[in-house]
Amino acid sequence: MILAFNGSPRAHGNTATMLQAALDGATSAGAKTRLVQLYPLKAKGCVSCFSCKLKTGRHGYCALKDELSPILEMMEEADGLIFGSPIYYNNITPELLALEHRFLFSHMLYNKENRWVFPRRIPSAFIYTFGMTAEHTDSIIGQFSAVHNRMGEMLGVKSEICCSANAWQFSDYSLYEADRYDPAEKKKYHDEVFPEDCRKAYEMGRRLALMKEQA
Ligand SMILES: Cc1cc2nc3c(=O)[nH]c(=O)nc-3n(C[C@H](O)[C@H](O)[C@H](O)COP(=O)(O)O)c2cc1C
Repeated sequence: MILAFNGSPRAHGNTATMLQAALDGATSAGAKTRLVQLYPLKAKGCVSCFSCKLKTGRHGYCALKDELSPILEMMEEADGLIFGSPIYYNNITPELLALEHRFLFSHMLYNKENRWVFPRRIPSAFIYTFGMTAEHTDSIIGQFSAVHNRMGEMLGVKSEICCSANAWQFSDYSLYEADRYDPAEKKKYHDEVFPEDCRKAYEMGRRLALMKEQA
């Protein structure tokens, strides 16, 4: 099963569309898939209880019980993980960050060796969407690279990243205080470039599904 996580409050927005394209790519390679919407879940980020690091504790397990708990359990069995978020103030949303922190931290020990306790090697990918234009991509995603770099390290396979810039935010720009955007230019980008971004997400999802578990 390839799992994808939507860190946007918009269940059918740009991020969800890109995630679905990636899952369609995975399906085309024969994978089973599931898209998880994170915003409806009642959940918190890591509460720093350190249960996951107790010598007598269960390593690789987050002891905090809430609506992310069953999702974290499913991630243990997954064949691949795809994390998607819109960019809010140069970062991913708190909902996705909560999931990533709990997943990463519960599988990390403070030992000098054997730092990660995830038992298998599985691929992961990240999808980011944002309102600024594409030339800002590197400076935006460079600001929170620790999370996707650590994820690849922990899962044993370098993560892929796929971005979509210049996001289409409203269906009618004339209704909003937004004259820094040219609606015709936004629409053209949405009609011509966004489908190409989705195609790249599709190919990424297909590649991810074709990677054999490398355990
Ligand atoms: C609270 C908030 C903060 C935002 N901050 C940024 C930002 O720092 N940089 C940027 O390029 N876009 C920013 N945006 C635009 C979103 O990234 C854009 O609307 C997003 O791609 C929409 O994805 P969605 O349709 O999946 O929700 C922001 C939007 C919101 C609501």
